[in-house]
Amino acid sequence: MKEQLMKHLAGHPWQANLHYYDSIDSTNTQAKRMAAQGAPHGTVLVARHQTGGRGRLGRSFHSPEGSGVYLSVILRPDCMPGQLMHLTCAAAVAMCDAVEHSANLRPGIKWINDLVIGNQKLGGILTELGLEPGSGRVSYAVIGIGINCAQQADDFPPEIRQIATSLNMACGNPIDPMLLAAHMIRALHRMDAGIFIEKNTIMDAYRRNCVTLGKQVQLLQNGTVRPCTAMDIDDDGALIVVFQDGHRETVNSGEVSVRGMYGYV
Ligand code: BTN
Repeated sequence: MKEQLMKHLAGHPWQANLHYYDSIDSTNTQAKRMAAQGAPHGTVLVARHQTGGRGRLGRSFHSPEGSGVYLSVILRPDCMPGQLMHLTCAAAVAMCDAVEHSANLRPGIKWINDLVIGNQKLGGILTELGLEPGSGRVSYAVIGIGINCAQQADDFPPEIRQIATSLNMACGNPIDPMLLAAHMIRALHRMDAGIFIEKNTIMDAYRRNCVTLGKQVQLLQNGTVRPCTAMDIDDDGALIVVFQDGHRETVNSGEVSVRGMYGYV
């Protein structure tokens, strides 16, 4: 597997710091451990299996052996955390590009970090930052992505079966996970090169790909559920919603998630 990935990435600048694991707790957790020990910008971790795959808001990410691509990259941008508010959005657009290259089908993005096909989740993105103690500047950013590749509906646990899909299910044929991983790494490398100078272009692409926009959704926050309409996404990736009484709010992804009115998306 690792050899195949190395072959697909021949000559790529991030190939030199590529780490492949047959099994690991979580590529994001391992990336954070490595970042704390000084791993350089562009360190990439790819796993065939995760025993403790993590999602946003403390959720778990089902990561069975050989069924998906579980990948994290360590970036070391020289900036304050506030300048990276759009990082998850940028990664999401990059992952739509990578899936489109590999499977000839472009997923949508469910705000803020889910890749979806139709009404089902194909994968997700978990971005985590480490800060320099004194200055508060970014020490590292870890972007972790999980994409379901080979599963059939019965392979998903019952609790997510209705809302999960895979590239195999969506395309009707298996997608080579290592080729997809290579496209993901290339797309993340391009994203990194333009993360500041192409911010407007990236956010326009995000809005075009975002299936949440214009929808009636339920806002889930601190145990409350509030119906509203998703109107726009600002340049930092926050969701602008309007409630039935006309009241508008800009909600940050920190502690909020959305569900469709009639289903997951
Ligand atoms: C989500 O669904 O909220 C995000 C899921 C992110 C999963 C990926 S798999 C690779 C990396 N390692 C993890 O533990 N999580 C991310």
